[in-house]
Amino acid sequence: ASSVVGRRAKSAEPPAAPAGDKPRYILGLSAFYHNSAAALLKDGRIVAAVEEERFSRVKNDPRFPVSAVNFCLEEGNIQPNDLAAVVYYDNPALTFERIFHTLLSLGATGEDAWMRILPFWVGQKLHIPELVREALDYKGLVLQETHHRSHAASAFYPSPFERAAILTIDGVGEWATATVGVGRDADLTLLQEMRFPHSLGLLYSAFTQFTGFKVNSGEYKMMGLAPYGEPKYVDRILDKMVSLKDDGSIELNMEYFGFLHEASMTSDRMAELFDGPPREIESRITRREMDMARSVQVVTEEAMLRMARHAKKLTGESKLCLAGGVALNCVANGRVLREGPFEEMWIQPAAGDSGGALGAAYDVHHNWFKQPRVKTPDGRAAMRASWWGPGYTNGE
Ligand SMILES: [Fe+2]
Repeated sequence: ASSVVGRRAKSAEPPAAPAGDKPRYILGLSAFYHNSAAALLKDGRIVAAVEEERFSRVKNDPRFPVSAVNFCLEEGNIQPNDLAAVVYYDNPALTFERIFHTLLSLGATGEDAWMRILPFWVGQKLHIPELVREALDYKGLVLQETHHRSHAASAFYPSPFERAAILTIDGVGEWATATVGVGRDADLTLLQEMRFPHSLGLLYSAFTQFTGFKVNSGEYKMMGLAPYGEPKYVDRILDKMVSLKDDGSIELNMEYFGFLHEASMTSDRMAELFDGPPREIESRITRREMDMARSVQVVTEEAMLRMARHAKKLTGESKLCLAGGVALNCVANGRVLREGPFEEMWIQPAAGDSGGALGAAYDVHHNWFKQPRVKTPDGRAAMRASWWGPGYTNGE
């Protein structure tokens, strides 16, 4: 048996792209929200992709991914100035615009929030290109993506499909919370979007917090709790908190949520609706939390199924690609595959923001440098698998 654990086998490498004069390296970056990561493409093939947490050992590390970048450059055996472009996965100016509008609309009650967010934005997030150039000692091209395009690209380009419908379902990225798009060869178009504050991901995170788990981290625990409960609150959620439309879009009744003007995802109204305060972190899990987990899971699955049917109607495609934080809900994904209208699905393994680094790099390769997609000879996904980070021998 191989003594290398976690490293891709040489035979698993995708085929070579037609050789140009000089290989084109593109570095994708995700940072400053959660799950910072770096990904390196060489002529449209993945060389390396890894989250910063693998090096820093800080779970969901949001800091600039210095170690992840270094690993990618070492794997590629290149220097920063060999890169044709560095691309950041999100557009901070648009995100800032959303936060600015939200705080303005809240008037005086938002003062605390201003002080919470302004220093970081003015200091770092609004100056990504300068920051990248400085951190990498790099003089070349720095581009910025939009959040959902990064997710969509991460779902479609490394997939085995020549054409497919694409759904991104997320908490929020800039203004958008979910998008429907279509990929055809090297083209990728986002067709429709749902906008903040109406978000399936933020709904799920609100329940994650209420049931006593950590937001942007413990969602998988609540998903795992769901099968222990009964869906007894589904009607209550759909009557009071969420208006679910035929196309899968939702409208949240903001009286039940706190994320517009408080540090909390939920409001006191939610505690009234569910007969008592949120569960304290680490306290005993009761039947109520199990039933709440099951109920919001059912609502999420129903919304995703409707989104999938809508995407099918809009695109006419027979295959579906998925990414965005909500696409980490594998239980819901299974239902979309079994009960939805698509014959096949491919889900970006790094469906959260780390995968945005990879998607952003792919999008720049195909849509900035106008490069065609390279077909894999066996029809398998170009990404092959998700272990594109460091490998270790048994001895290590
Ligand atoms: Fe995201």
